[in-house]
Amino acid sequence: MAVGVFDSGLGGLTVHRAVSKRLPEVAFCYYGDNAHAPYGVRDAEDIFNLTCRGVERLWDEGCDLVILACNTASAAALKRMQERWIPKDKRVLGVFVPLIEALTERQWGDNSPPREVAVKHVALFATPATVASRAFQRELAYRAIGVDVEAQPCGGVVDAIEAGDEILAEALVKSHVEALKRRMPHPEAAILGCTHYPLMQDTFQQALGAEVKVYSQANLVAESLADYLARRPEFLGSGTVSKYLTTGDPASVSVHATQFLRQPIRFEAA
Ligand code: DGL
Repeated sequence: MAVGVFDSGLGGLTVHRAVSKRLPEVAFCYYGDNAHAPYGVRDAEDIFNLTCRGVERLWDEGCDLVILACNTASAAALKRMQERWIPKDKRVLGVFVPLIEALTERQWGDNSPPREVAVKHVALFATPATVASRAFQRELAYRAIGVDVEAQPCGGVVDAIEAGDEILAEALVKSHVEALKRRMPHPEAAILGCTHYPLMQDTFQQALGAEVKVYSQANLVAESLADYLARRPEFLGSGTVSKYLTTGDPASVSVHATQFLRQPIRFEAA
């Protein structure tokens, strides 16, 4: 009974923490492609190839279902993977849809036409590749009308987190929020559209102000995974061991993971 969690680096640990808490009986195998992070400045071909390699490694661990806990991979590679690469007995799920469903007040699988929703001005913070893909706006347009989305590509934030530099990450978050507020002074909601960003959630919230509702993915993805597995238990893979794999240096990745998650985490070589 194992499920895989993939990210370019440390960000997917925010999702891993939430899914492990929600489904304590399931083993989760984490794969961080830290040697190749950040993905947010790579092209789609590169992101596709790296993501497929990581997902295959998780399949080898007996995880028939893999969550791409990475918006950049979900935006740049998932559709192509689902259309022509994933075999019938495996599943790879992204992290956008649960978030968009929460923002648009929809239940899972509600495919009714797009309708007006309560929030009208939404700030989106994501990596340059995710912003360039416009995948959030596309998913939103299937479900809601009249929502104004202002997107801020947050260059540098993932690099600073991966390097363990919290001070730089904080300064960059503040300047990205300021840049967005110059274009949209009063967002009602903000989407943290990169799984690394919840590691800096307090800084985002402070810079945005208490009146802005900040949506992040971890708990929403955990609920949606629990729902999926209840309906499709055949995708609980044969693996039994929870572990953390990295393509980077396990010792330094473990130190940075422990620092940001504020709990001891031990990585091994992928
Ligand atoms: N955590 C990934 C995401 O959600 C990180 C991106 C990156 O490596 O640039 O987009």
